[in-house]
Amino acid sequence: MEYRHLGRAGIQVSELSFGSWVTFHTQADVDAAVEMMAAAYDAGVNFFDNAEVYASGKSEEVMGAALKQLGWRRSSYLVSTKIYWGVHDKVNERNTLNRKRLIEGINGSLERLGLEYVDIFYCHRPDKTTPIEETVWAMHNIIEWGRAMYWGTSEWSAAEIVSALEIAERHHLHKPITEQPIYNLFERHRFSSEYERVYRDYGYGTTTWSPLASGLLTGKYSQGIPEGSRGTLKGYDWLHDHLTDKDKLSMVEALEPIARELDCTLSQLSLAWCLKNPYVSTVITGASRVEQVHENMKAIEVAPKLTPEVLERIDAIFGVRQADEEE
Ligand SMILES: NC(=O)c1ccc[n+]([C@@H]2O[C@H](COP(=O)([O-])OP(=O)(O)OC[C@H]3O[C@@H](n4cnc5c(N)ncnc54)[C@H](OP(=O)(O)O)[C@@H]3O)[C@@H](O)[C@H]2O)c1
Repeated sequence: MEYRHLGRAGIQVSELSFGSWVTFHTQADVDAAVEMMAAAYDAGVNFFDNAEVYASGKSEEVMGAALKQLGWRRSSYLVSTKIYWGVHDKVNERNTLNRKRLIEGINGSLERLGLEYVDIFYCHRPDKTTPIEETVWAMHNIIEWGRAMYWGTSEWSAAEIVSALEIAERHHLHKPITEQPIYNLFERHRFSSEYERVYRDYGYGTTTWSPLASGLLTGKYSQGIPEGSRGTLKGYDWLHDHLTDKDKLSMVEALEPIARELDCTLSQLSLAWCLKNPYVSTVITGASRVEQVHENMKAIEVAPKLTPEVLERIDAIFGVRQADEEE
């Protein structure tokens, strides 16, 4: 495993990391979480991602209980959480990054995780109604109080990120250091065209999500939605159109010969493709069982096999226009 700086920040993250969305509490209990986190940690993963909204706080509880059992030295790993949607439905408690919500939110997350601090605290989405300045001050205070080491954004626009950076610069506050954007073979346009300048010009890091497009890039949806997969879970019907999209499925099928030539699985190839982007600080992987973790961690061995010629063949399958990459 290699470790990459999170943008210009001093902290380093393993190039593959591990997140708990969908899985913890819903598919994985504490024992399964312990098993998967241990497999990831043993492979060199040092960053574990979570969010308040995942399973309405239960995902943080499962990760907290797993960390307690695992008993790792606190300085040997990083944990993140994210806030925006909230777990209650009243005004000021949902879809906001106001000062009250962020401060009450981090306190609740720390209690569920059983930790004194998280390493990265994210604003899970932008909030169009709270002044960015209010959010930046609250995040600064949370860091000053020692409840988070760093803060970041997730799915903010480049303009919103730059605004936060400039407010922090003007008032000598802690700046956000990283964005958490989606990035996979199907979803690459925003990363390359909109964000790349923020990464390049401001040294912003990236912790990227859904590298397998919720499992579609593993190839297991080629004959329909298989039993026991994310596509069968209650509450995830909104994923069905994506997981059964004929165009996308035919692109995945076209990747198979390349995976065979490189002697790897489709999951490993798709994860390795994410790793090749120098603006990716870490690829957050997800898994519902430990075998998937073992398989996915081997993607680091596949990345060096992705030569410019192989990458061009992959681009041809996914119909990448030259202009997309150059924008
Ligand atoms: N910031 C955000 O807004 C945001 C949004 C989403 C995710 N995230 C973060 O990113 C992490 C990863 O996202 P994701 O879970 O969507 O990642 P993903 O890699 O796109 O999908 C992971 C899912 O694919 C299936 N899978 C993984 N490896 C497999 C393998 N080798 N063989 C067969 N199936 C496999 C598993 O689901 P099944 O076995 O159940 O089919 C697994 O849970 C999350 O845990 C979270 O931390 C952040």
